[in-house]
Amino acid sequence: MSVLKVENYSKIYSGTKKAADNISLDVESGDIYGFIGHNGAGKSTTIRAIVGVLDFTDGEIYIDGHSVKKEPLECKKITAYIPDNPDLYENLTGLQYLDFIADVFDIDSDVRQARIKEYADKLEITDALSDPISSYSHGMKQKVAIISALIHEPKLLVMDEPFVGLDPKAAYMLKEIMHDMCKKGSAVFFSTHVLDVAEKLCNKVAIIKEGKIITQGTMEDLVGDKSLEEVFLEGVNIA
Ligand SMILES: Nc1ncnc2c1ncn2[C@@H]1O[C@H](COP(=O)(O)OP(=O)(O)OP(=O)(O)O)[C@@H](O)[C@H]1O
Ligand SMILES: [Mg+2]
Repeated sequence: MSVLKVENYSKIYSGTKKAADNISLDVESGDIYGFIGHNGAGKSTTIRAIVGVLDFTDGEIYIDGHSVKKEPLECKKITAYIPDNPDLYENLTGLQYLDFIADVFDIDSDVRQARIKEYADKLEITDALSDPISSYSHGMKQKVAIISALIHEPKLLVMDEPFVGLDPKAAYMLKEIMHDMCKKGSAVFFSTHVLDVAEKLCNKVAIIKEGKIITQGTMEDLVGDKSLEEVFLEGVNIA
């Protein structure tokens, strides 16, 4: 069964603006699925509909067989979302925030401590976790958002431009974490403008232009002996 299935999904903002137009996507267990497209193409709109923070106009979205519209709680239990600009509770410390998220997902104290330690060490933010989030840089907030997303071992991890602002070591660790999750049967769906990272990291990719998917499939089939950058530029110029 697909971990994420998007079927003929469309989103019209304020009556006329069609930001997503009849999109269908299939993300399976073990997939690292890249979602690429120019500014304003409809990536964040689609991602926000998938994770249930934005209502949509037409179509259906299923997470592990559960309808995002009809069974939002079932979907949220198994999904994690890292937005492009993590908006965390600034007056909490990093650790208090992570504890709060672990409470929401009902994670046992031993398990949560072990997971927080593992990921905080990997992302080199352990020492800052006792400081208030208001004192964090963008990258530090991004790291806390990543740990909070991993705390309940989601089946589906959805991220909007996750590499923006991360230092090289953290970006490397995030890629490792994505691979580890997918080996265990989860799936990752993320948007990015960094095409060489997507080309190396993703086994599947979809290119969106003006709300429509212009091409999608396995990276191997799509890229062939070209680069993803060439395929992208050709695709958005002629489609
Ligand atoms: N709240 C909103 N109300 C009206 N139109 C919106 C709203 N949010 C986004 N849009 C429009 O929808 C389209 C898609 O925007 P979206 O944010 O999904 O693009 P994106 O692919 O994520 O772009 P970027 O790469 O810049 O992040 C754009 O034309 C944008 O102007
Ligand atoms: Mg966006």
